[in-house]
Amino acid sequence: MNTASRTPTQQQEGRRTPWRLSRPWRTTAVSIHVIASVGWLGVHGSMLALTASTLAAPEFIPAAYTAAGALSSMLVLPLSAMALVSGLVLAIGTPWGLFRYYWVAAKLALTTLLFLGSNFSIGAEVRAVATAVAMEGATAVTPLDQTRTVGALAVSFCVIVIVTLLSTVKPFGRIRRRSRAAR
Ligand code: HEM
Repeated sequence: MNTASRTPTQQQEGRRTPWRLSRPWRTTAVSIHVIASVGWLGVHGSMLALTASTLAAPEFIPAAYTAAGALSSMLVLPLSAMALVSGLVLAIGTPWGLFRYYWVAAKLALTTLLFLGSNFSIGAEVRAVATAVAMEGATAVTPLDQTRTVGALAVSFCVIVIVTLLSTVKPFGRIRRRSRAAR
């Protein structure tokens, strides 16, 4: 991934900016960002695979939901917070800016929704089902619970894939601000 060559230069931006990451810090931040965000994608994919396997084989319910609950409580919060914070640092600390390019602004909006959804909605649901299974056994999970959990994980997994593609393709170009004269 050659991030530097595709990044707008300060000259293209046409003005001096107050704060920029130096090259080593930028490389460090991109590395942390990619490890955290792609790790988050992998953890989400694993939770999806585990819970989806129970649709065809209900005997997997205790093992699959226990494992998915553990992934959710141990990894989703740190990875998603690291992806969001490192993304903000990269956007603010490089010429990409936070609201200068559509792909960055779209990533911010989608990642914020994903962060809230995967920690407080889907994650909470998976952890609640895992606790119920641990206390009452596989019968604590209804087919409706299973379908809802798998559906929510599938949608959020697709959104993380879209965010990853926004990062590599960097589509839609620059956000144009109306000039004072035009207003
Ligand atoms: C699920 C969430 C995210 C994923 C999967 C993700 C993924 C990635 C990947 C794979 C890259 C490397 C692309 C390349 O080098 O060509 C990247 C770069 C970048 N990301 Fe994210 N990202 C996420 C969230 C965010 C957020 C919330 C922001 C900030 C609003 C952000 C801002 C950036 C910026 C500015 C770069 C370019 C860094 C550079 O060129 O130095 N990302 N992201």
